[in-house]
Amino acid sequence: MSDYQLTRLLDESAAETALRADVLRGLTRSPKVLPPKWFYDARGSELFEEITRLPEYYPTRAEREILLERAREIAAESGARTLVELGSGSSEKTRHLIEAMPALDTYVPVDVSESALAGAAEKLLAEHPGLRVHALLADFTKPLHLPDSPGPRLVVFLGGTIGNLLPPERAEFLHAVRSMLSPGDALLMGTDLVKEESVLVAAYDDAQGVTAEFNRNVLAVINRELDADFRTEDFTHVALWDREREWIEMRLRARSELRVKIRALDLEVPFAAGEEIQTEVSAKFRQDGVRTELAEAGLELVQWWTDSSGRFALSLAVADGPGMMP
Ligand code: SAH
Ligand code: AVI
Repeated sequence: MSDYQLTRLLDESAAETALRADVLRGLTRSPKVLPPKWFYDARGSELFEEITRLPEYYPTRAEREILLERAREIAAESGARTLVELGSGSSEKTRHLIEAMPALDTYVPVDVSESALAGAAEKLLAEHPGLRVHALLADFTKPLHLPDSPGPRLVVFLGGTIGNLLPPERAEFLHAVRSMLSPGDALLMGTDLVKEESVLVAAYDDAQGVTAEFNRNVLAVINRELDADFRTEDFTHVALWDREREWIEMRLRARSELRVKIRALDLEVPFAAGEEIQTEVSAKFRQDGVRTELAEAGLELVQWWTDSSGRFALSLAVADGPGMMP
């Protein structure tokens, strides 16, 4: 039976050190903030998969529609023999691309969630026993050492996860992606698009409360990893549209005045009634903004595809500069 390789660029102690630093910094400042990557323990990854099946959460379905329609074109244009996927999760949609790439040699899923990587790798190998799968347990905002594999390389970043980075983080991230690309390589990136507020808010505040549970899961992660005593039911889920910044913000709002002990940090965190922790931003984009942000990182937008309702876009970009132009 074929097997996959797993390289841990993030060991447990490095992850814990990073979590401690983020919690200490984020919960002792005002307004309080937690980075979204901490949602994704095994439970958080499962909850995200549930979100992708909710009637209100259109991005996954919209992106799948584009991928199904364009997979052959993407495969032909990139000619990729190595597919690197950042924030790969379950790799569910990626399978449409992989199926359209018979010459593909190696798939490199990169994620902070080991359970998601393992589940995805096993499922993919069962379907494509000849494919080499080299998973990286890593933070995609940190330097990545990619395994040796044949070019050209297609780097994919799906789901609109780029929108979960703040603008300066996005700029830094896109520069790092640019530096991963050699002549002939390409980036395929999914972005959710600006649309009517009611549609956006519903996608992040679903009727079944799955997104609320996903949001509160970050508190369960801190309880388990840092021996804290958050009572998740003390916090309500908030999703709001910031019209100026054009992003959805998720927050957790304390129902009453309370104090939380975080024993591993020897810290007690006070909350006023109604005080909020910002847990995620999910930026929504327009074509001009995407083109500009790519260009500022030395990337040239060469294709822009949307789903039939214009809700979500996939961008194909290449490194600009010497050697890349015809
Ligand atoms: N690409 C998939 C999953 C999106 S969910 C899709 O489109 O459906 C976001 C994924 O990114 C999760 O699997 C999460 O674990 C991962 N992730 C979030 N922040 C990350 C980071 N800083 N480094 C690596 N992976 C990250
Ligand atoms: C992973 N990311 C693109 C999702 C999003 O839509 O911003 C995470 C998510 N948060 C709430 N629902 C889904």
